[in-house]
Amino acid sequence: MPTETVYGLAADAANADAVARVYAVKGRPRDHPLILHVASSEGLDRYGADVSDSARRLAEVCWPGPLTVLVGRSAAVPDGITGGRSTVAIRVPAHPLATGIIERLGRAVVAPSANRFGRVSPTTPRHVLDELGDALDPSRDLVVDGGATTVGIESTIVDCTTPVPQVLRPGAITAAEIERIVGDVAAASGPARAPGMLARHYSPTAAVEVFEDREAAERRQAQLTADGVAVDVLDVDDPAEYASVLYQRLRAADDAGVAVVLAVLPSPEGIGIAVRDRLHRASAGR
Ligand code: TXA
Ligand code: MG
Repeated sequence: MPTETVYGLAADAANADAVARVYAVKGRPRDHPLILHVASSEGLDRYGADVSDSARRLAEVCWPGPLTVLVGRSAAVPDGITGGRSTVAIRVPAHPLATGIIERLGRAVVAPSANRFGRVSPTTPRHVLDELGDALDPSRDLVVDGGATTVGIESTIVDCTTPVPQVLRPGAITAAEIERIVGDVAAASGPARAPGMLARHYSPTAAVEVFEDREAAERRQAQLTADGVAVDVLDVDDPAEYASVLYQRLRAADDAGVAVVLAVLPSPEGIGIAVRDRLHRASAGR
């Protein structure tokens, strides 16, 4: 299903077989928890326990929207979606097709990004088919076409179980905005706080190299081109626009047989911080 961030591989969170299939189709380790998608902030009380004031405040200000809060889990949270943890991640997506599905079902759906483990998240229905088409079963699976997603990168994840909320995954809603809303915010600390946040992630088949400025990227482009290597330069001035086209551009590079994507990093402000995070991960290990 579409959301405002990326397409999600949605399943009834209470249906253990469907959840197992989500893990299988993605090739995702079972100890990586899934986000519960709910239709309104009532879901926070239904599925959350020990919900802190900061979680409540963030939900009130940011939902529906690209923000996921981590809170204690209530007894209503099905086993097998939290990777054995005592916490649960919850969000209300800002997309009428997503909330419509959740409302009609009457309970939460899990919706990890609809890509294979470690790869680029899909932002169009075509990406979903390219990514998962082989694993889908036309007799029971369905791609809901909501066109291209608007935000383009995954939701901000905020751990609200710590005294000072911590940003586990940067996104369109920035740490600065969260600080304005709840008064204080910290960067994530401690190992593997969000198990999907691996150093190498969001990777196309092409190698990704990152640059602080356009000139450096162009020098590298000249070098590689002289060596006969197919390259693509990714450089978008407006950070919100950068986020919205990022994954589509990485996929397009693969489709065109590009060997190396030279990405000029946006300035570390606003959503530019999250775009930098994704590009660094996409380039890790190269
Ligand atoms: O924008 C989004 O959040 C998209 C759309 C489809 O809603 N969904 C998404 O889900 O990005 P996914 O599963 O690809 O990423 C969820 C991240 C993973 O890194 C996971 O480890 C983390 O959230 N997460 C979920 N529950 C958690 C928990 N209880 N504790 C720590 N991390 C958690
Ligand atoms: Mg994902």
